[in-house]
Amino acid sequence: MSKEVVLSGIRPTGFLHLGNYFGAMRNYVRMQDEYNCYFFVADWHSLTTHPDTKELRTSVNRVLAENIACGLDPEKVALYIQSDVPEIAELYLYLNMLAYKGELEKVPTFKDKVRLSPDNVNAGLLTYPVLMASDILIHRATKVPVGKDQEQHLEMARNFAERFNHRYGEVFPLPYAFNFQTSLAKIMSLDGNGKMSKSENAMGTLYLNDSEEEIIKKIKKAKTDSGPTESNSVKPDYIENLFTLMRLVSKEDVTAKFESDFNNCFIRYGDMKKQLAEDMAAFIAPIREKAQSIQNDEAYLSKITKAGAEKARESASATLKLVRQAMHMNH
Ligand code: TYM
Repeated sequence: MSKEVVLSGIRPTGFLHLGNYFGAMRNYVRMQDEYNCYFFVADWHSLTTHPDTKELRTSVNRVLAENIACGLDPEKVALYIQSDVPEIAELYLYLNMLAYKGELEKVPTFKDKVRLSPDNVNAGLLTYPVLMASDILIHRATKVPVGKDQEQHLEMARNFAERFNHRYGEVFPLPYAFNFQTSLAKIMSLDGNGKMSKSENAMGTLYLNDSEEEIIKKIKKAKTDSGPTESNSVKPDYIENLFTLMRLVSKEDVTAKFESDFNNCFIRYGDMKKQLAEDMAAFIAPIREKAQSIQNDEAYLSKITKAGAEKARESASATLKLVRQAMHMNH
């Protein structure tokens, strides 16, 4: 039986952070042995908000290097750059005919971006979810490891797939957002305002290339309060976020001790943050060092992405053949 197809992508719009790791990359690594995996750098998507391309190549290389440094094995997965696979653009064109202006205008990420950059509301931004659906459907992927912020885009991808299947015949299986836990990850910013992000709020975000000093400084400043006054209280979300980070990087018995201190109302957040900073610094150091050692190795990275694009194009052109047949366009 052929393996289930997994696909996911990351925009090269800044430094990768723990949200990306938790929401996406950690799952990529855990899925690479069991599934037929396609992972890519979404350089076309980055043009919707970052039209200046002078630093693009450097950013693309850094995203590739950080993915590999987190444990992704380019021998096991197809690791490629979106713009190396032109078949995606053809599918995007067809799916655009099935996407309606009204539904695209209602997407919360579109509305956010309009609010942030009212002078750059381009058509690519409006049709962002259509390009994302094309990325997924071009490999007929069914599992898409992403964070919570991408859930709505996945729902739209299913809508476009269903619409296509209904109009032209069954070509696409329906894709779903995936996480090994029961819910999708959302890593909040350390100051409790919004989520960790590549391009906003650097003090609240832990980047995979932060130095030990930066990590300690940021965690020291993380938002806490005077502690619970009733035993077994529900944790405020900024405290839950610290525990989530701790569960990722600290030993189980260490986390259990602070959980129990919280539940018994004698938690000392200063101690917890000190421990978390130490464990986080130890967790990030090898990723940072490995990424730094390969991100300037142009020859190695281009060998990998060439092989990745070849594999991706093979799968993409097989899907396009089915699409064109279904649409009576196989002249
Ligand atoms: P991007 O580049 O913003 O983020 C990459 C991945 O990281 C996840 N993520 C988070 N997860 C938890 N907490 C956070 N604070 C956090 N911040 C980011 C994202 O959910 C994502 O999984 N549109 C996508 C890129 C894309 C794509 C695709 C993804 C293009 N085509 C096809 C999947 C399938 C994006 O902007 O992700």
